[in-house]
Amino acid sequence: MSEIKLPEVELNIYSKRNPVEVPVVENYIITKESSPNFVRHITFDVSGTELENRVRVGQSVGILPPGEDDSGKAHKLRLYSVSSPTEGEHGKPHLVSTTVKRTIEEFGDKLYLGVASNYLADLKPGDKVRMTGPSGKRFLLPENAEDFNYLFFATGTGIAPFRGMTMELFRSGSYKNDCVLIFGCPYRTDLLYSDFLAEMSEKHPNFHYLPSISRENRRPDGSKHYVQTKLEDESELLIPILQKENTLIYICGLKGMETGIYMELMKRGLNSYFEARKELPEDLSEIPRDELKKFIKPSVRIFEEVY
Ligand code: A2P
Repeated sequence: MSEIKLPEVELNIYSKRNPVEVPVVENYIITKESSPNFVRHITFDVSGTELENRVRVGQSVGILPPGEDDSGKAHKLRLYSVSSPTEGEHGKPHLVSTTVKRTIEEFGDKLYLGVASNYLADLKPGDKVRMTGPSGKRFLLPENAEDFNYLFFATGTGIAPFRGMTMELFRSGSYKNDCVLIFGCPYRTDLLYSDFLAEMSEKHPNFHYLPSISRENRRPDGSKHYVQTKLEDESELLIPILQKENTLIYICGLKGMETGIYMELMKRGLNSYFEARKELPEDLSEIPRDELKKFIKPSVRIFEEVY
């Protein structure tokens, strides 16, 4: 396998105590009109700051919402994955984008609106935010990115980094390996960046976009379509790619999704993505899902960002 050379990155040029103020330049909804979820694509102009040209796809930026909570404490910093490519949104190194879902939760008979996500979602072009970052030094594309095949697994807004990574891989036209994006969401109305992704798969036979919609139809055995069930349902495409030595797996989204993926890989004997912590039983079904991590840990070929 080619060596995986991760780029050097500068971390936290701006910190919580020393944030930078940057304006929003675009903020638009990307979920369909009929979806009860509101996900927005938001772009910031970082020109004239130390962030210009220094934020890589796969990294995050922090947002400090203004104001205080009920107990008088300043609102907490929230991290958002960058969804623009390293070269910048629209090819401009001073434009950095993120993908933000409004958090709306019900507690008892009260609605709770996530502070940072609703603050961001309401911003108009020209409004300024306090930003920190960049953060993250491992969930990155290698410098020698074109040497590898990729399986990107995303749920919900976990798709953010893969939008930029896909743009980056296919930008020059010289990428010849295979890149698969498996995206899980509840309904078709929650597909994110689907026009862009459908266009990419039409243009590039080596880009494969596999949406996995959990709440519309069931699989023949009655189970839900989850990102990891694609390993079975699309095995003809995916297994040969996974068997290649130069394939890397990236996982981003819901905490817990990674163990489902590990289990499906292990079941298919794809052990080279893991290192053993202790000896596995012959029959993997003996291991409860939440104990899998006691037996194995991901090797350098798996990158994950789950929250
Ligand atoms: P479901 O909620 O139907 O069980 P979003 O962030 O937009 O809600 O999407 C998350 C997607 O991930 C949903 O389709 C959700 O399915 C699915 N999901 C939930 N739990 C897991 C899991 N453990 N592994 C993989 N996918 C999951």
